Amino acid sequence: MSPLVATSLAKRFKGGLPPSPPHPATIQTVGGRRWPYRYLELCRATCGDRFTLYPLDRMPMVFVSSPQDIRDVLTGNPAKLHPGAGGRVIAPLIGEHSFMLLEQEDHVAGRKAIQPAFHKEMVRRQAAALVDAVDRTVESWPHDTVIELQPRIRALTLGVILRIIFSDHPRQLTALQHQLMGMLAVSDTLLLQGPRLRHLPYWRGVWRRFLEQRHRVDQMLYSLIRTRRAEVDRSHHDLLDLLLDAHAADGAPLSSREIRDNLMSMILAGHETTTGEVAWTLQLLAHNPEAQSRLAAELDCDPNTDYLAATIHETMRRRPVFAFAIPRDVVAPVEIGGFTYQPGVQLVACTYLLHHNPELYARPHEFEPERFLDSRVQTRTWLPWGGGRKHCLGRHFAMFEVEALLRSVIEKCAVRPVGSRIERPRWRSAIIVPGGGCQVVLHARRRQAGGGMLTVGRKNGSKD
Ligand code: HEM
Repeated sequence: MSPLVATSLAKRFKGGLPPSPPHPATIQTVGGRRWPYRYLELCRATCGDRFTLYPLDRMPMVFVSSPQDIRDVLTGNPAKLHPGAGGRVIAPLIGEHSFMLLEQEDHVAGRKAIQPAFHKEMVRRQAAALVDAVDRTVESWPHDTVIELQPRIRALTLGVILRIIFSDHPRQLTALQHQLMGMLAVSDTLLLQGPRLRHLPYWRGVWRRFLEQRHRVDQMLYSLIRTRRAEVDRSHHDLLDLLLDAHAADGAPLSSREIRDNLMSMILAGHETTTGEVAWTLQLLAHNPEAQSRLAAELDCDPNTDYLAATIHETMRRRPVFAFAIPRDVVAPVEIGGFTYQPGVQLVACTYLLHHNPELYARPHEFEPERFLDSRVQTRTWLPWGGGRKHCLGRHFAMFEVEALLRSVIEKCAVRPVGSRIERPRWRSAIIVPGGGCQVVLHARRRQAGGGMLTVGRKNGSKD
């Protein structure tokens, strides 16, 4: 159903939908784009735990944020709530045949084929190589000068996920990585969210360049698929092997196009998210020197300190890369929280608002890793991985990679802020990242036997 038809249908049922903030569609669209976290909080302050937004170019979106509503949306009947359709914003990147965009048994079959590559055991096998790549990269970062960390982290995480997908490091991987970095630059524009912009003079050129870059990436992916298919005895045990052996729900082997789309899905999901979350953690640590000192001191005593996981859990609460789980399209009437939703609207489980509910988290706007130290994370109130049959497929790998990166940075460096405020959030395709590229100053740090932090080199006093 087109967004226009959906909006006019929903307006007819307006009485049946939760309230909407008193802003026209343009303001709702701009508010959500420009101030993603803050606008959500404003809507909740105005309308309560459930509200409806009518963004331009999209179906009406009903945001829910109580633990019960969120649970009901995430675990709702997949014949009534379609999560695949909710991911269509990234379809130009990952392709229409990606398992992430499919529904019901097609989606389940796609997930099943991919899951083994990111199982805990597989992650353990990759651990040493990953830690080595992380340490070498972090050691190469310049000290005592302002640097933008996000592109550097992205280059690293992209390299890591490519090695997991195509384990044997073919020469093409460097070229593929380069082309992908160019192609994914489109994620920083509004072109994925606003398809109509693609027809305007300036944006037409940007979109054409993206299509050319995507074509070059596709040629490389198809070449890798062809070469591997032709091998008589395949034993790489990587994601490409798994996909070549996989079958769709109807039992047919996957076509090269389907394999390409699934590879792109995992390349995208497997590096942009961790990059964003590491960047947010470093921003928060740079601006919270006490938390950083404690983390450094604890890492000096124990590289597996609980404080590291607590810091990451708190970042995922305070600055989640996904402000909400993938929206679910209503395709048959469904009742949640006393409302009966009709086809033509999307239900959005807003985890950001859940994580900032003062009844669930004391001082929700403070960065306090300690809150996760003594208690296990509660899956009712802490849901950065989403839930139900769409819940994050790469979460063990993600946690391992984020921990490895943070451990390496904090063990080697003191991270100082640039400016007096944490960078404002900015959309990058479907996720939210630090808007300035995560600018910081790194200083060399020497490990202290009894804990505590010793900064070596020039101190960035005025910015501390
Ligand atoms: C800190 C990093 C990450 C965060 C916060 C994160 C979070 C999420 C969230 C919220 C969802 C949507 C769940 C829903 O709608 O219910 C998701 C889905 C997904 N994630 Fe992650 N993710 C991260 C890293 C990764 C990594 C590293 C990979 C792959 C190696 C990955 C693979 C996926 C896939 C494939 C899906 C879609 C699953 C499906 O369609 O069934 N994610 N993730």
